[in-house]
Amino acid sequence: MKNYSLIDSGNLKKLEKFGPYLISRPCAAAIWRPKLDIKIWEEADIVFIRDTKNKWVFKDKKRLDSWLVEIEDVKLKLKLTDFGHIGFFQEHVFLANKLSKIIGSKIFKDQNKKPNILNLFAYTGLMSLFALKNGAKVCHVDSSKPSILWAKENAKLNNFQNLEIRYILDDALKFVKREVKRGSKYDGIILDPPSFGRGAKGEVFKIETDLYLLLDLLKKLLANKYSFIIFSTHSPGFSKISIKNLFTDIFEKNKNLEIDELCLKAEKSYDLPSGYYAIWQNDDKKF
Ligand SMILES: C[S@@+](CC[C@H](N)C(=O)[O-])C[C@H]1O[C@@H](n2cnc3c(N)ncnc32)[C@H](O)[C@@H]1O
Repeated sequence: MKNYSLIDSGNLKKLEKFGPYLISRPCAAAIWRPKLDIKIWEEADIVFIRDTKNKWVFKDKKRLDSWLVEIEDVKLKLKLTDFGHIGFFQEHVFLANKLSKIIGSKIFKDQNKKPNILNLFAYTGLMSLFALKNGAKVCHVDSSKPSILWAKENAKLNNFQNLEIRYILDDALKFVKREVKRGSKYDGIILDPPSFGRGAKGEVFKIETDLYLLLDLLKKLLANKYSFIIFSTHSPGFSKISIKNLFTDIFEKNKNLEIDELCLKAEKSYDLPSGYYAIWQNDDKKF
């Protein structure tokens, strides 16, 4: 089964195929006109309508709540949520493969110990699953109980429930402050912060005011000379230059820093910009 393709985008919408289902959803980045014929859009099995009342509309009224897809060889359960999300961001697969490459590298293999990975704002756990599959132990942090339960379901689907993963239901910043006090160390830290989010007890996270502090604290949690950070964001206002300024301000210079735009490729339509990422590694060799 081909598990994901971006079919078309435009008119502030995107048309994607997840497993067997064709889904049309709002997409603020798609400011052009669709490339493909309207007839293709009309074939959508599921359409998310953002209105005074958000709703999913089903073709032929055949309702669907959840289904499975396989991303590389990792299984994920997708569900239709009230906000038009489905528990998976395709652009993160690129970063999941980067993560596999880093922790599967000789540098980590030669250390003869499991890499210790911290996954913040971990959502339904794609990056945690890729870390586990590569023999890491994972600390998975998210402030939403439904997201943590969903991530546990995904781990079980892959038979990973007995691997070394700790689920922490907490505010990311609060948890990181505690980890710094405890002197904890991680080989790799992954974070995909939202523009605005709330901690488990209603704490407010605003990317523009809290990201600097968060990254500055994360620096103290990095374990050794090969440790790394994988950062991604979909927040408006970020650019390659702003991320470069942020990382070169906080982290040691002359180390490996890769920054680029995330993008979803479409075979027959426009590529869709999908945020930015940065990978910083405390090593001067290329990943
Ligand atoms: C979907 S992910 C990443 C968001 C993505 N970058 C975007 O813009 O849509 C957001 C996750 O962060 C979690 N989250 C939001 N605020 C948080 C906080 N203060 N501490 C920990 N997790 C938080 C949410 O529960 C959710 O699972």
